[in-house]
Amino acid sequence: MKGLVLSGGRGTRLRPITHTAAKQLIPVANKPILFFVLENLAAAGISDIGIVISPETGDAIKDAVGDGSAFGVAITWILQDRPGGLAHAVSVAGDFLGDSPFVMYLGDNLIGTRITPFVEDFQRGSAAAMILLKEVDNPTAFGIATVDDRGHITRLVEKPKDPPSNLALVGVYFFTSRIHEAIEAIVPSARGELEITDAIQQLLDDGAKVDSRIIGEWWLDTGKKDDLLAANTTVLQDWGESSVRGDVDAASELTGRVDVGAGTTIRNSRIEGPVIIGPDCTITDSTIGPFTSIGRGTKITASNLRHAVILDGCRVEHIDDMRDSLIGQNVVIEGAGTDKALRLTLGDDSHVQL
Ligand code: TTP
Repeated sequence: MKGLVLSGGRGTRLRPITHTAAKQLIPVANKPILFFVLENLAAAGISDIGIVISPETGDAIKDAVGDGSAFGVAITWILQDRPGGLAHAVSVAGDFLGDSPFVMYLGDNLIGTRITPFVEDFQRGSAAAMILLKEVDNPTAFGIATVDDRGHITRLVEKPKDPPSNLALVGVYFFTSRIHEAIEAIVPSARGELEITDAIQQLLDDGAKVDSRIIGEWWLDTGKKDDLLAANTTVLQDWGESSVRGDVDAASELTGRVDVGAGTTIRNSRIEGPVIIGPDCTITDSTIGPFTSIGRGTKITASNLRHAVILDGCRVEHIDDMRDSLIGQNVVIEGAGTDKALRLTLGDDSHVQL
């Protein structure tokens, strides 16, 4: 079984960060989202993986992933010249996939479970495709499936006004080579994309069996800032570690699970876990509250932060209250002391003086 990871796309909903960076490389708990995806595939024994990339961000993704040996997998790079939709990405990957069954995994999706049992079920079964579903509270925002009492899919609808169920399609799909014929038979949707939901509906219309599994664990689609912060919170909460490799002085206090990277110094500060602080950071006279991830080489002085993702090489000074924020690389935020809570989304290299 092969793996196909979709890491192209536009990422418009995560601008301004995605003006300069690939969405799939944004870190959650200081690890790029795409790395969670590759680790999950590798743990399921899937070692022949194609990654679909776009002309804009493909090189950055190649640099970050390398040849795949760090994950124990072999990578084939597949360039999609335009974001023509998820089914378009599958057709562009046709030469790599051949007649092989495959797992298609969206490179910006995180799930709180291993996919190994689903891979095994799909390989044992006789379905043309299998999709993972998750019960959601707001089904009008998702691709929604209806299933019969055996768990077979009966119908798919994209963002329904009047949802027939609350079962959303999670970004992990299992296909046999029958999906290729189905994709050839569909036409672009109203938004001009070849939709994978249309291709799966085509399989159903052709009389093929499409199986499903409902996952109980969390599923996080990191397409928007709030989703990304929610993913950071969940991953820190469930998988955050306590490990201090840096230098913490006696005037500082660490509570809960706090992960401090090598070369980081913490002076006269309070860190309330779960928090991860990367290597080579300096935290001085500050409070870093729960659910915060700070990248490599960032300097925080006389500031109070919580529920935030701050990437590498930033400088934050004299900010009394910053929360619910996503801060790109090499950003400078200089405050003069204000009691207002700041909620910021800043792209790479921004400079803010308050
Ligand atoms: P989406 O989040 O649906 O699309 P997008 O990345 O273009 O984002 P936005 O809607 O904010 O503009 O894509 C899901 C995943 O699939 C994501 O990792 C990008 C990838 N993808 C491709 O590889 N090729 C494509 O043609 C599309 C549409 C998405």
